[in-house]
Amino acid sequence: MSDRLDFSGRNLYELDSYSVSEIGTIFETAKVMKQIIKRDYKKIPTLRGKTIATLFFEESTRTRISFELAAKRLSADVISFSSSGSSVKKGESLQDTVYTLNAMGIDLYIVRHNCPGVPQLVHKYSQKPVLNAGDGTHAHPTQALLDMFSIWEKRGTLKGLKVTIIGDILHSRVVRSNLIGMKKMGAEVTVCAPRTLMPPKVEEVYVAKCEYDLQKAVEGADVIMALRMQLERQAEGLFPCLGEYAKRYGLSKEVLKYAKDDVLIMHPGPMNRGVEILPEVADSEHSIIIEQVTNGVAVRMALLFLILGGKSNKSNATS
Ligand code: CP
Repeated sequence: MSDRLDFSGRNLYELDSYSVSEIGTIFETAKVMKQIIKRDYKKIPTLRGKTIATLFFEESTRTRISFELAAKRLSADVISFSSSGSSVKKGESLQDTVYTLNAMGIDLYIVRHNCPGVPQLVHKYSQKPVLNAGDGTHAHPTQALLDMFSIWEKRGTLKGLKVTIIGDILHSRVVRSNLIGMKKMGAEVTVCAPRTLMPPKVEEVYVAKCEYDLQKAVEGADVIMALRMQLERQAEGLFPCLGEYAKRYGLSKEVLKYAKDDVLIMHPGPMNRGVEILPEVADSEHSIIIEQVTNGVAVRMALLFLILGGKSNKSNATS
């Protein structure tokens, strides 16, 4: 395990505020956590007595369940808040919602909202550590951490790997966090999309290679990540129809021929099978999509452990 870095009380809004060695420590800790969740008895007492609240103002399957499971595996109490079914529906503000929850003794907040910056506001109102579980089109740092951990676990490093990310680059918070994290960890990232789904100046802003041709984008790739085609974008006229998108940008076995023989296929989920990825690829021997989900629990356990549980020390994690 790396040096004993102090993560105590830290927020996680985006990966730009975490160093290479801190991300390395998160990976090493997640590796230990993964051993724990593979045991018959999957729980450790590290966060006994701590209370964690998940505040979700937007839908989620993976992130929410994964965070809640991670907290429970560490023996924390978990309060699960959704805007639907809460007093937010009666007009209660974000500020009053956080004051109310804080009065009940929450130690850490996990926040998803369609508005960028809400995690920072929750920290301002609560003065407790906040982890961003996705804020609008801005950032999804724990998704990027679990994506990077999944590659690191298979290849031992991200340095020098060619990673190609295909899909709705313009609206994706997953790609933004991954671009920051992967570049930081030394990967060479290429983004590929139709012109209408590519942000302006992507090469300048993210120092990523930009390709509009799928075949060129995947040439020699070590890793290919397909992103969810946000179906609601079709109504905005950003591409002609899903069939056309699937034909030009969908990941098929034919496309994989241009990548490395041992290419890893990833997707953050939820998937639109037959649109951005064909089942023959999603379910192939190259796919680590299901393992990404398992790794999500391990990475989130690592973060909760490091931020609330104390030092990045392997023996603490296993006891
Ligand atoms: N990857 C992801 O954020 O999935 P959910 O929307 O299901 O949480």
